[in-house]
Amino acid sequence: MLIRWEIMIARSPNFKNGQTEVIPAVLAKTESELIASIEKVRPFVKRVHIDVMDNKFVPNLTVGLEGLSKLPNGVEYEFHWMVENPQDWIRKLDGKHLHLVHVETIGSNWGEIRKIVKEKGGALGIVINPETPVESLAPYAKDCVQALVMGVHPGFSGQEYITEVEKKISYLKKAFPKLDIEIDGGVDADTAVSAAKAGANKLAAASAIFKAKDVEQAIKKLGESGERGSSHDEG
Ligand code: DX5
Ligand code: ZN
Repeated sequence: MLIRWEIMIARSPNFKNGQTEVIPAVLAKTESELIASIEKVRPFVKRVHIDVMDNKFVPNLTVGLEGLSKLPNGVEYEFHWMVENPQDWIRKLDGKHLHLVHVETIGSNWGEIRKIVKEKGGALGIVINPETPVESLAPYAKDCVQALVMGVHPGFSGQEYITEVEKKISYLKKAFPKLDIEIDGGVDADTAVSAAKAGANKLAAASAIFKAKDVEQAIKKLGESGERGSSHDEG
């Protein structure tokens, strides 16, 4: 076994083992739905992705700040802020979370956003919509641990994956090699392979996990797809 492993590494210089993280995405309208979804996946993952929508930045509304403040312990959270003025939300949420902020919503508030997140001991990630030029992330990348590339237009689960966004992933991987790169929207066992091949090391998925009969198996399958892709990455 050990010998076969060494051969694999020798043949594939970019081979990475176990580096693809699967992050279940929860888009919930009520507190009970939110908690139930988190409880379903909590035993199998390190982190859960919480979709937050204000019906302004995107045409959909999710559970509000009160519900977001009462999440179960025992797992890490990343908040995907699909809201106008994300600083007003982040300010009111305690905890050392990863805050994923859309580049389209920053305006002149980046300094304030950074300050609030730092005070809370959290971390920042920057999110980009399919139609936004990837170069727009450059001014923010140095303050972030992660870039999140949307694989769909934000607002809803269950949409079809837009393959062209993988150009953004490849670009970001080369331009900012230290950043984690997450893909969110339309991720399934097939698209996970090509996204990981392009350079994504984190896979956020809702339908592929929560619509499956066995969520544990679904998470495992996505992870395996990611590993398959990253073992053939273009890096
Ligand atoms: C879309 C959200 C995604 C979405 C993923 O606006 O940010 O996180 O819930 O759902 P699927 O995996 O079904 O595309
Ligand atoms: Zn999301």
